[in-house]
Formats: sequence, structure tokens, C-alpha cells
Amino acid sequence: MAVSEERGSVRSGVRDLLRGLPVFSGVLPEFDPAAAPEDPAELFLEWFAGAVEGGVAEPHAMTVATADGAGAPSARVVIMKDFTPEGWWFATTTGSRKGRELARNPAVALLFHWIGQGRQVRVRGRAEPADGERCAADYLARPLESRVAGLHGRQSEPLTDLAEVDRVARESRERLERDPGLVPEDWGLYLVRPAEVEFWQADRDRRHTRLRYTRPGTDAPWERGLLWP
Ligand SMILES: Cc1cc2nc3c(=O)[nH]c(=O)nc-3n(C[C@H](O)[C@H](O)[C@H](O)COP(=O)(O)O)c2cc1C
Repeated sequence: MAVSEERGSVRSGVRDLLRGLPVFSGVLPEFDPAAAPEDPAELFLEWFAGAVEGGVAEPHAMTVATADGAGAPSARVVIMKDFTPEGWWFATTTGSRKGRELARNPAVALLFHWIGQGRQVRVRGRAEPADGERCAADYLARPLESRVAGLHGRQSEPLTDLAEVDRVARESRERLERDPGLVPEDWGLYLVRPAEVEFWQADRDRRHTRLRYTRPGTDAPWERGLLWP
């Protein structure tokens, strides 16, 4: 078989595989947008509790999308560290790609996808770095392995030799054992203040429900409306 022919058959194999994969196959919860609260924070907490109780794996993992100076987006998963009336919190290093992008352009999008419940929560807003005290408290509250991994200050830089990771981790561990109060300068805790929050509930017949909350400023009251699926 010629190489191009072989590639073609692999591709059609993938297509068949994809067509056979189920979607929205879990137990889809009820969602009545007419009964939704005025504040999306309340609804987020309700849905998050539902995801935890419903056994969704890692419900606190969220995708964070940022954009570079030319507007080109990049996305990655991080852990939600807190949720307060102000918004969503996550921690990372300020020197990472996302940290550098946020320093130039704080516009950010978050996405929770709770598979099995057919739910998405989509957030658009601005990320602001927390003060040094809060960043330090977040870092110091982490287990040793996490602090070791966060100390090297090189997240997102090119790596030429995997063995370097182990060598630097050993050094970091020794530094932390000598100085348990050590906090890396580039440790960043970010608060995402929302301007738009959408709650999306899947329906097996594709009559998905979308409820979007928007507000013109972080002190303005929320408005809400439905969107076509
Ligand atoms: C489930 C999961 C949780 C993660 N949590 C974090 C996190 O809380 N903070 C973080 O910096 N990276 C986390 N990562 C790694 C990021 O996805 C990403 O690889 C890293 O932050 C570098 O991203 P960047 O180069 O775009 O800045 C997590 C990855 C996964 C899959």
C-alpha cells in the first residue's frame, strides 16, 4: 500500500471511530433557566456542588485561555484554587506563557466541562494578580512535592535534557528543607473577575439550554438572557 493510501485509510479509521463515540451519554441533570438565581456566582456554586456530588472527575479542573500580543490564543488546564464572590482563583508562575500573556493582556476566558452531566460553564473576564501576601499563603499551604515543582522558576521554558528536571528538583527540595518559609518570587495567584458567565446544559435531542449572564462593569448588576443552542 502506498504511503498516502495508508494515511488515507488511517484517517477514515479515525473518522469511523469518532462517529461511533457517544456524547451526552451520562445522567443529564434538569436545568430550568427561569428559576435561575440573579447572581451567576450562586448558580456556579449550585452546579459545582452538583458536579462534586455527581462524581464528576476533577470538577475543579478548568481550562484557562489567554492571548499573546498579536491576539493569538493559547489554552491550558489549571486547578481552581478558590471561588469567592469576586470570582475564580488559580495559581501559576508569573514567568510561564500564561503569566507573561496575562501581564500584557489581562483578558481571559475560563471553561469548566463537566463530562457525564453535559454541562459547561464559560467565563470571560479579566485576571488580576493577587498581592504578595496571598501568593505566599497559597504557595506555603501546598504539599512539599508541589512546592518543589513550583520553585524552579522555569515553567514553559524549553528543556533540553529531562535529567535536568530531577537535578533541579533535588536542589529545590534541599533549599526548601533548609528554608521551609521560602516562597519563589514568580509565584502568582490570580483572580478572574467575570464580565460574562454562560451556563450550558446539554440535551440528548440537542435542545441544549444556554443561559448567559453579562454585566458592563464589575460593579454593575447582572443581566441575563437565553442563547440559541
Ligand atoms: C488537571 C491539571 C491541572 C493542572 N493544574 C495546574 C495549575 O494549577 N497551575 C499550573 O500552573 N499548571 C497546571 N497544570 C499544567 C498546565 O496545564 C500547563 O501545562 C502549565 O501551566 C504551563 O502552561 P503555559 O505554558 O501555557 O503557561 C495542570 C494540568 C492539568 C492537566
